[in-house]
Amino acid sequence: MVSVHAAARVLVASNRGPVSYAVGDDGELTAARGGGGLVSGLSAIGDEADALWVCSALGDGDREAVRRGVSEPGVRMLDIDAKTHAAAYNGIANSVLWFVHHMLYQTPLEPEFGPEFRTQWAAYEQYNQAFAQALADSAAPGATVLVQDYHLALVPGMLRELRGDLRIGHFSHTPWAPVDYFRMLPDDVAEQLLRGMLGADRLGFLTGRWADAFTECCVRLLGGTSGTRVGVHGLGADADFLRERSRRADVEERLAALREQVGPGRQVIVRVDRTELSKNIVRGLRAYELLLDEHPEWHERVVHVAFAYPSRQDLAVYRDYTAEVSRVADAINARFGTAGWTPVVLHVKDDFARSLAAYRLADVALVNPIRDGMNLVAKEVPVVSDEGCALVLSREAGAYEELGEDAIGVNPYDVTGTAAALHEALLLPAAERAERTKRLAVAATALPPARWFLDQLAALEA
Ligand code: G6P
Repeated sequence: MVSVHAAARVLVASNRGPVSYAVGDDGELTAARGGGGLVSGLSAIGDEADALWVCSALGDGDREAVRRGVSEPGVRMLDIDAKTHAAAYNGIANSVLWFVHHMLYQTPLEPEFGPEFRTQWAAYEQYNQAFAQALADSAAPGATVLVQDYHLALVPGMLRELRGDLRIGHFSHTPWAPVDYFRMLPDDVAEQLLRGMLGADRLGFLTGRWADAFTECCVRLLGGTSGTRVGVHGLGADADFLRERSRRADVEERLAALREQVGPGRQVIVRVDRTELSKNIVRGLRAYELLLDEHPEWHERVVHVAFAYPSRQDLAVYRDYTAEVSRVADAINARFGTAGWTPVVLHVKDDFARSLAAYRLADVALVNPIRDGMNLVAKEVPVVSDEGCALVLSREAGAYEELGEDAIGVNPYDVTGTAAALHEALLLPAAERAERTKRLAVAATALPPARWFLDQLAALEA
């Protein structure tokens, strides 16, 4: 991996870092490394690059690691005061900014920007300032800094104030809200967010649609983008990693177990998501229920394997949603299940090897988010699929721009339409499925993570 240096030449900043710590019963700390585009991207710049990843300490294990001075090479965790972090992360980032960009508010109940919001906003500013300060302290003269996502929207501007010599980029992994939705934020906050991001030399988005929405916000609310460049980098799937990883013994084992659970001769509709409001899991289940309602010919002949991994459980609305997903899945099983057939197999314990096994097994993949920056599941399934898989894909996912032609597109709110798309996908002849999957895999891997990252660095340094 990358080596630690007091004066780093390439820096990445994100709320969630590449490593997390847990304290065992014996008091020992164990580190778990995550995967993902940024991890492989940063590895791609090589060992000599003096790279540093600045991230938040997130749980008790992380905080304990910081206290004990334990760290991984190339990673600096910031132990931001827990209350400040919670207000910034749960309060502003995940309850306000995530909701705005994914258009999740259900007016008139939400949002209400009153005194509590202002307290949380102050915490968000502090939290961003802590990142800016840490980056300013760690960056070599003229270094390049790549700031990630909506958690850290103010960092580019703050860092620019502290260190005029740095090249600063910011990348958004989410959609960007249309201007008429974005401006529901208080005017001063909306302006601060845009100006904070415009502190960067260059801003990156996953699709042209999100980049245009951002530019439109700047033009309408500020009069322009004041010279900041805006670019599009459509993160793709990591074909080499996925193909190798999905053939290992632990995946084979889980594949056998899943086959057993599904039963012989049945088609499999797979979904894999964080249990996230924007992923639209409940409407997906309702569409499947409608399919069974309207097409009894599928009874006993199809199983919906749904992996819904708990996420952001500090937030009541996520806990309620998680419970709702289980309730709806149980209701479908109670209504249609028989002694030998469980229509929905729901798993909630995160298990990457099992996700890969499900990708291999899937006849149909259901990816129906209300809005999604990209959606990598849609890109990973075609790469890993054993025999070809029909992709039912929301037109509101960033991935639709690249995969729309060979997917079956759906409006994520249209449950009837989604049921019809599932039916069409199940009927797609095997040869047609295999052909489409091949083309989808090519499109899905056009920009692998390492190149996605290096392209941004090159564009920033150009
Ligand atoms: C999205 C965001 C990431 C975030 C991830 C998981 O993909 O763009 O920044 O890390 O969700 O969410 P979490 O709140 O668990 O970090």
